[in-house]
Amino acid sequence: MMRFLIALLYLAAATPAFAEFALLPEPLLVEDRDAGISLRNGDSMAVEGGGALDEAAWIASLVREHTGLSISAEASSDENAKIRITRPDASQLEEAFEEAGLARPGRIQEAYRLRIGPDGIVLDSGGPAGRFYGLTTLWQILTADRNTPGNLPGLDVFDAPEFPWRGLMLDSARHMQSVGFIKRYLDWMSLHKLNVFHWHLTDDQAWRLEIKAWPKLAKVGGYRVPAGAAPAADIDPETGKPRLYGGYYSQEDVIEIVRHATARHITVVPEIDVPGHATAAIAAYPELGVDGFKVESVSADWGIFDNVFNLEESTFEFLETVLAEVVSLFPSTFIHLGGDEVSLDQWQSSKRIALRMEELGIKDFQSLQNYYVERLQIFLDQHDRRVIGWDEILESDLPPRAAVMSWRGIEGAVEAAEKGHQAVLSPAPVLYLDHIQTSAADAPPGRGGVITTRDIYEFDVLPETLAENREYLLGVQANLWTEHVRTEDRAAYMTWPRAVAVSELGWSAPGTRNWDRFAARLPAHVTRLQKLGIPAATDENALYGKTLPGPTDPAEGPVRREDRELELCSSAIVLALEDDAPLQGAKASFLVDIQNPCWIWRNADLAGVASISASVGQLPFNFQIGDAINSVVVESPAAGAEALLVKLGACDGPVIATLPLAPAIHEQAVTRLPAAAIEAGSVLPEEADLCFIFTRKGYEPIWAIDWVQLEREGN
Ligand code: ACM
Repeated sequence: MMRFLIALLYLAAATPAFAEFALLPEPLLVEDRDAGISLRNGDSMAVEGGGALDEAAWIASLVREHTGLSISAEASSDENAKIRITRPDASQLEEAFEEAGLARPGRIQEAYRLRIGPDGIVLDSGGPAGRFYGLTTLWQILTADRNTPGNLPGLDVFDAPEFPWRGLMLDSARHMQSVGFIKRYLDWMSLHKLNVFHWHLTDDQAWRLEIKAWPKLAKVGGYRVPAGAAPAADIDPETGKPRLYGGYYSQEDVIEIVRHATARHITVVPEIDVPGHATAAIAAYPELGVDGFKVESVSADWGIFDNVFNLEESTFEFLETVLAEVVSLFPSTFIHLGGDEVSLDQWQSSKRIALRMEELGIKDFQSLQNYYVERLQIFLDQHDRRVIGWDEILESDLPPRAAVMSWRGIEGAVEAAEKGHQAVLSPAPVLYLDHIQTSAADAPPGRGGVITTRDIYEFDVLPETLAENREYLLGVQANLWTEHVRTEDRAAYMTWPRAVAVSELGWSAPGTRNWDRFAARLPAHVTRLQKLGIPAATDENALYGKTLPGPTDPAEGPVRREDRELELCSSAIVLALEDDAPLQGAKASFLVDIQNPCWIWRNADLAGVASISASVGQLPFNFQIGDAINSVVVESPAAGAEALLVKLGACDGPVIATLPLAPAIHEQAVTRLPAAAIEAGSVLPEEADLCFIFTRKGYEPIWAIDWVQLEREGN
């Protein structure tokens, strides 16, 4: 009821303060006061006790860079300072909440009150985190898109978070980011009161964490030859072999990152993925793998591998040694042990595994996965740490202290909560930031299926099935997997502004959120993100889910469609993939169903069309997709010559043009195919669908359309 009244209060105000200042995530309560204050250059922030001096100075520097308003920060209890940051006091803040008619915050340490009045600005907090969050709100107030940033109206902000886990996951295995970038990523998270950084450090394609006891994990496991013809031909003169992609985080790097996160009130939850997603580790130390299955090298394929750790006692000792170093580096209570997508194939076909299962009393293969969690939880218990894992770990009995990260929808969280385990919601596809976030034709690569900021905002954090066991829900997290996110700029782009919606999912009570109120604040906030140097998405599809205008065709002359302006013939595994060539500089990217590279141009205007040209690229088929490989559509070439076929009406319609692929076969980057005349005898209607499909000898390579063009007579 209280929250409902608060919502009404917002709606009643002329220009509510949360909107005027684009406060994100939206605070619990913002009340207007009669009179405000003006800040001037040279005004100071007095930090009582000096505990948050660095934080205050950082916020002041962000305000200065954004607006030019120069405020200093000093350790002081000066009652006359324009801005006063008081020492945290939980019981006093609780009383203030009660006096304002608000419930006592469940998470008082993270709560704050920020008052702006004629006597100055006062920030009270329930704990150091709350004090920091109050400072981030002050940053937003002072960097709102207003004419007079320092000229502030009277306000009284009461604020506290709904959920303790407000996270982002960054995959540094598939592609690696620099320490500097990760620190900026943490800064950006903290400015949105996001407080968990789940760091995905190991996978089939890399092991990125230096482990002193097992140096080859990083030194061998951290490097791979990227997929495709172009990297294979890029010979490193030092080794005479293809140049390697990769690197790893030294323990000094990790200490620097964890220290930075701690200063921003963010917990770094490291992920060491076991017992699957283990190819890089096994490539470094073959004795970790299942007997009889050789891993030659760290892989550049994406997908689900059969490689898993074996069951030898020495392998558990290895993992415990790794975890001993992990817990010494990361103060987080939770240590993420992966557990997702474990293939049983190697275990099932190994006599040695069967013997070990018997010795260890493991009944079946599902319990084998569970054995890993149990064993490692016992080890982590000794260090007062807890396991969190992907929802597959629920498939057999779990130690009660283990928590579950629900990614295959929300069912994992529902089941975990029913069984009394804590859970984090990070369901695919809606909270998977590797999905492209706009239908714009020039958007960078990612998983197909657009997930906009609005899609994320409208995710229901607390459906009825979860509400019953609400106390087990830790919170929400969005995941940035980086198979298709090669650069840091793109990692930033894929995250923002979608993570702003994530922040409000985690911070605000589910029943109080409202899309229109959020959307009203978004444009001003996107400007703020840009001032921070974040290359955030800005088009109307990415932000609001609005349909972008389609291409407009000239009345005369050639008409072109980019790949993303065409329709895919099917949608089995749709990816926006980047070409492997050229090695340096801009590369083309293609939206393709890797099971069926085939495109449709709906309602093409065929009047006067005499020929068709195209620009095409080829991609390596570097995907481990299991049995789905049998469903890959391969149309065999007639007379042995591979070609792009253009068919009229539908993909089983008559061929009206054949563009031989010969000029493109030995090219690494995109190739413009010469225009092919409409075949003699074809009868073209004024308008029809066209199907574009490649003939090829096998699933390798994936041919892809960059663009296609209809040429009219006389051009
Ligand atoms: C996952 O996406 N495999 C957790």
